[in-house]
Amino acid sequence: MLPEVTATRYVAPLREGGSLPGIVEADDLGTYVMKFTGAGQGPKTLVAEVVCGQLGRRLGLRIPELAQIQLDPVIGRGEPDHEVQALLKASGGLNLGMDFLPGALGFDPLAFEPDPVEAGRVIWFDALINNVDRSWRNPNLLVWHGRMWLIDHGATMIWHHNWPRARAAAAKPYDASDHVLATFRPDLAGAAAELAPQVTEELLTEVVADVPDEWLAGEPGFEDPDAVRRAYVEVLLERAPVVGAGITIGERTADLPSQAPEWVRVRLDGKAAK
Ligand SMILES: Nc1ncnc2c1ncn2[C@@H]1O[C@H](COP(=O)(O)OP(=O)(O)OP(=O)(O)O)[C@@H](O)[C@H]1O
Ligand SMILES: [Mg+2]
Repeated sequence: MLPEVTATRYVAPLREGGSLPGIVEADDLGTYVMKFTGAGQGPKTLVAEVVCGQLGRRLGLRIPELAQIQLDPVIGRGEPDHEVQALLKASGGLNLGMDFLPGALGFDPLAFEPDPVEAGRVIWFDALINNVDRSWRNPNLLVWHGRMWLIDHGATMIWHHNWPRARAAAAKPYDASDHVLATFRPDLAGAAAELAPQVTEELLTEVVADVPDEWLAGEPGFEDPDAVRRAYVEVLLERAPVVGAGITIGERTADLPSQAPEWVRVRLDGKAAK
């Protein structure tokens, strides 16, 4: 189970996040980035954060710790921003928190060079969870105390929006051409050999147990939250051994919005060639 804390103070909104996450303090004296249940993207975003966050951490990737945060909307009363106040009002009860890394910087591929082993591990993991949200434009990586941290796994596992076809999607290839780490000579074969055998039924079962029941309840076609948990385990278990062979890194396509500007690509290509 994820640690459970109670929010004591709303500190500030994180303006760059699409879902308007905010920084809160909690009764364990911790500071968290809070993803609100009332954010309008539905509980599946939070389920994805928990499944992928816990799985990644168990595979040895650096992802800040997660917690369940109880929120009493009363703490938003003095909040001058109407949008924030509405969000707090709509989010009473259980929300998701991620340990806030103070002073962390957004990942900049020109200022920070991950080694091929780490780049390979991150891309393999993103392929496993079908993460399309680690592109040049929106890397969702932070650099903190000189090391790279992974955040924002809310838009992964697209197949959980269509359960009847989810198993069929398990073997789908992953195009990493647009991945922010694609130019760092990722050791994909090494990552697959190291990580795939670790994704066992036992590990996945432990990971999905951390998802709170109330975010899984009422899923059409499933009897209860445990049945939904088993469905996540089945798809990820089927995908783990085959996904490595399905990763492709081609040319970044010119029409994608996340295409790096020319002057940046020249420098990156220069680095990769070294
Ligand atoms: N644990 C953390 N520590 C420090 N800063 C964080 C942390 N998590 C998120 N942030 C900051 O908050 C921003 C928004 O967070 P996140 O990407 O998780 O939200 P989001 O709403 O899902 O974003 P989007 O959909 O726009 O990518 C990040 O880009 C980062 O700058
Ligand atoms: Mg983000």
